[in-house]
Amino acid sequence: MRLDGKVAIVTGAASGNGRAISQRFAEEGANVVLADLNEEGLAETERLVRQQEREALSVRCDVTSREDVQAVVDAAVEQFGRVDIMVANAGIGTMGAPFLELEESAWDAVQDVNLKGVFLSDQIAARQMVKQGEGGAIVNIASIMAEQGSPMNASYCASKAGVKSLTKSAALALAPFNVRVNAIGPGFIDTPMTKEMREEPVVRESLERQTPMDRIGEPLDVANAALFLACEETKFMTGQTIFPDGGFLLNYVKPTEELIAAGMRLQAEKDRKSGG
Ligand code: NAI
Repeated sequence: MRLDGKVAIVTGAASGNGRAISQRFAEEGANVVLADLNEEGLAETERLVRQQEREALSVRCDVTSREDVQAVVDAAVEQFGRVDIMVANAGIGTMGAPFLELEESAWDAVQDVNLKGVFLSDQIAARQMVKQGEGGAIVNIASIMAEQGSPMNASYCASKAGVKSLTKSAALALAPFNVRVNAIGPGFIDTPMTKEMREEPVVRESLERQTPMDRIGEPLDVANAALFLACEETKFMTGQTIFPDGGFLLNYVKPTEELIAAGMRLQAEKDRKSGG
């Protein structure tokens, strides 16, 4: 078991990727502190973690509040004596607001949860890890959108690019303490956050067309990447963002039948000329 005896905090643990990460970590032997605003969802994740015969502790927490995040770390220390892993996963998505109409309040709300929430989670967990003196692993959840612009999702893209940048700064600051900080930039994943988008045929078709592996990802794809970055096998990796995205960032546009036929025609013509 890769995380045997470790104590992990997962924010946004009540749903989607956070729930899958919590379950996967428990499967690998970790006790998990589950932090989220959604208490009903937390109870279900707690049940799933306990099925792995690991301890779970649920704490209601708003990651935009320093007091709340501190209370999560304090609860972890009180219950389990330490914090080895922080997964700063809590985040909110945007459906698409045109840049020219984007409201300041909507911009602020996204930065508060997606970027400030990660900063607070990283900093407060890191202080505890440094105090313990035995290193640790922090995994931030960014997105493929950290690498891209979008005229309809400027706030989300900027927040996730911010997470990628923060990951590098925190990695540099914490390397002397053997606290590693890495990030994951998932492609489109089948979670409640993307439910409406996936149910809209035009959007779904466009997402699949842009994903060379021809499918939407599963929360387990993200959980496995988080496990990889949290475990000892990556003990020499820090400051990196890895992208479980089915090839999305290769910027692939699936060619139409007509385009394939045209390419073959041109090649045949070229071969004929060079042959003759
Ligand atoms: P989700 O909506 O299923 O889960 C997000 C969780 O975060 C919810 O349980 C929610 O209650 C919690 N949360 C929201 N605001 C919070 C706050 N202020 N304090 C504490 N908890 C809060 O969404 P999903 O997809 O599981 O998202 C998890 C992370 O993965 C997010 O950071 C998201 O941006 C990221 N992500 C998701 C992708 C996808 O396609 N689903 C793709 C790339 C990144």
